[in-house]
Amino acid sequence: MSDKVDAEDGARETFLAPSSHYGNWEDEFPNEQSGPFYKRISYSSIATHCAIALVYLLAITVISSRIKRSSNPPPCATTDSTTGIYYPAEEAVEYQLVDFPLRDFYQNNPFVGNPRPEHDEAWRKLLTNMNVRFTPQEMRKMNLTSLRLKDGSGYVGSFTAYHEIHCVHWVRKWMHREHYWPYLEGPALQERKVHIEHCLENLRLNAMCRGTRVVSTFEWMGAFPRPTVEQQHKCINWKKFDAWNAERRVDLFDLDALEGRPPLSPEEEPDVDVRLGTKPAFVAGDDIAH
Ligand SMILES: *[C@@H]1O[C@H](CO)[C@@H](O)[C@H](O)[C@H]1NC(C)=O
Repeated sequence: MSDKVDAEDGARETFLAPSSHYGNWEDEFPNEQSGPFYKRISYSSIATHCAIALVYLLAITVISSRIKRSSNPPPCATTDSTTGIYYPAEEAVEYQLVDFPLRDFYQNNPFVGNPRPEHDEAWRKLLTNMNVRFTPQEMRKMNLTSLRLKDGSGYVGSFTAYHEIHCVHWVRKWMHREHYWPYLEGPALQERKVHIEHCLENLRLNAMCRGTRVVSTFEWMGAFPRPTVEQQHKCINWKKFDAWNAERRVDLFDLDALEGRPPLSPEEEPDVDVRLGTKPAFVAGDDIAH
């Protein structure tokens, strides 16, 4: 690449070289250092120089203002160009190629397997920053409203990426419901089943919405084709995105932090959290975010 550039520069230099022999500036005005001719030239050249300087000054002003503007991007830089929807965390979005280790996914993976403290802790950490605060300006740009925080700092919201993770977690808990929700029976069990169906629908719709176009190939597993799922994916840097959310984390268990909470209705027992469907004392490492 640099060789090519050098060669081109060399060619340009060769091309320009003879022009200096056509007679240059000094040849045209041999006596410009002396005599009345020099004076006349001098006034007009001062005017010319001033004019050129002015043009340069203007150009520099325009260019530097452009640079300033681009280093301080306007709000529309985070607005999706197709939909016009504003996304507040775009500055925390950075892409990278990631291998999905799906072949040996059981190895050293706290997110899978039977319930155990390490597993619950991994999921708890993953969902810690699910609920966050958005400023009134951000809410306006998104054209959204939500529950307002009493301290006036903004509104509670959550990125759907976390909602998907929450759903995967809840489906896992449903698989092990005798461990996580041993108390569930009758209508409460039915309600939870509907929640799981809701979660599966959320995952289905998101998968169809994203339409991830990484291609799976096939290989023989015994006498049957099996998809290989280990291709590289273009992923956001989750750590960076999660850190953005951590900065704005809101504890949704702290209901007193929310403005305008309606009083409990008679059928809402004070010690029952409708979000969990049971008394918090029965909950095994549970909370709303998880
Ligand atoms: C904002 O939201 C309201 C209510 O959902 C809707 O009627 C309105 O068209 C939206 N405005 C814009 C600019 O999207």
